Amino acid sequence: MRTSSVICENIVECVPEVVKWNSWDAEHLKTIHSAYDDPQVLLTRNNDGLFIDKIKLPIVGIRIAVMVFTTQIDPNRQISFVKTPFFLGKNIIEVISLDKKLTKVKVTYQVSGNFIQSLLFPIILKAFKKWNKKIWLEDLPLKIRRQKALEYGFEDWIGLPRNVNDRFDKSLAYKTEIPVTKTKNIKESRHPFCEEVI
Ligand SMILES: [Fe+2]
Repeated sequence: MRTSSVICENIVECVPEVVKWNSWDAEHLKTIHSAYDDPQVLLTRNNDGLFIDKIKLPIVGIRIAVMVFTTQIDPNRQISFVKTPFFLGKNIIEVISLDKKLTKVKVTYQVSGNFIQSLLFPIILKAFKKWNKKIWLEDLPLKIRRQKALEYGFEDWIGLPRNVNDRFDKSLAYKTEIPVTKTKNIKESRHPFCEEVI
């Protein structure tokens, strides 16, 4: 069995919990990311999630069917195992607090397979690097907007306090709850096998 990996790092002006929220928010996948064809959440529960999709990797060019098991293994690390027709992947997302509202996001993409599959690893890892850049830029406005909203005192399913004087910064105290509560019957939870656990 052969393995190979690549690391991508980015920095964003928000609290680490906002990065975590973005990673676990199913509702944005279809509308924000063009590389996801038909993301479906089969199950999310107790820091775990199971997803299927057809993704389009840059460079490779074709859409490939993937099944992804994701777990929040500790408060700062999310690990995903990705089954594809060509390789088994493992992604580790680490959120590292640099300052109160400054966060580094380190993603390690790992691939494993036999000798024949390993011949594809250089191009696959190059594609993951491009993928990371594209996904990062598409997600960036969401993270910045949520950080700002939390700073104005926004609460999920409630909104902003009516009185401006009641709008206190809640971003530093914010904790992402997994699974992230989603709207019923969103595009990402319409598969017949989908387990609605929330
Ligand atoms: Fe995203």
